[in-house]
Amino acid sequence: MRTSIHVNLDLCCHCGQCVQDCVTHALILDDADIPAFAEGKEKNCVGCQHCMAICPTGALSFGGKNPEDSLPVGMGKSDDLLRLIQSRRSIRFYKKEDVGQEMLGKLSAMLPYIPTGGNADNLYFTLIGSRKKMDAIRKTTYECMAKASDPSPMFIMARDAYAAGNDVVYRGAPSLIAVAIDKEKTIPGCEMADPIIALSYCELYAQSLGLGTLWCDYAVLCAKQIPEVMALLEIPQNYELVYILLFGLPAVHYARTIQPELFTIRVLQ
Ligand SMILES: Cc1cc2nc3c(=O)[nH]c(=O)nc-3n(C[C@H](O)[C@H](O)[C@H](O)COP(=O)(O)O)c2cc1C
Repeated sequence: MRTSIHVNLDLCCHCGQCVQDCVTHALILDDADIPAFAEGKEKNCVGCQHCMAICPTGALSFGGKNPEDSLPVGMGKSDDLLRLIQSRRSIRFYKKEDVGQEMLGKLSAMLPYIPTGGNADNLYFTLIGSRKKMDAIRKTTYECMAKASDPSPMFIMARDAYAAGNDVVYRGAPSLIAVAIDKEKTIPGCEMADPIIALSYCELYAQSLGLGTLWCDYAVLCAKQIPEVMALLEIPQNYELVYILLFGLPAVHYARTIQPELFTIRVLQ
């Protein structure tokens, strides 16, 4: 990661917001009131780019990024986001066709915006982007389940269901996204939070694109118990699979939201 900053002196208004917002206090205003790394502090920079994002005049470039290439901030409409959250459903029926390159491109382009503890570059995403590749995973999964010498109750249930024409592991989905973590690069305590936050973002964004999704414990169990399935996910050795989200074009349509009554929610004042 390049952590250099460059300040356009014609644009800098010396407001110091970049310094105030620097999470690791790596920046200072120098004698001329220009932001700079404090001596020996550049190594503390986590590369969050807040300094570039907050600069009101676009004077500060971070790591060779041009502030003009950033997007204007936009928070969207909170009512729309709430309705998306309320309307999201687990989808267990998918159309045959692939989601297509455009959707895969949109999902891939969203991923770098996901937050991680300490802005760590610690996640690895595998997107299975075609039914052909997904069918290879499906076939391997059920073949290995059928061959298992001492099958778990879950394996027995899944392979019996598959023999009867029901893919209870992958629900006939044409795609999945698997998230894996490099624990060495992860802030202690964030090993579960980082990948699960990532898939939560994926789920909501995918559903906003009209895709169906399903958090899939079964798929995770299969990948962890069947080395041949894990191999098909092509996760590098230093990364550990954490979770899998199935996705595809939904073959079901929900006409209304549910009316949930879950959880204990207390507001203390
Ligand atoms: C962490 C997690 C794991 C899940 N694993 C599975 C799974 O393996 N198979 C499945 O059919 N549904 C799975 N689900 C979906 C839940 O069963 C589902 O969220 C629940 O039935 C409520 O439905 P809704 O998501 O439409 O509100 C999982 C959900 C979560 C959050």
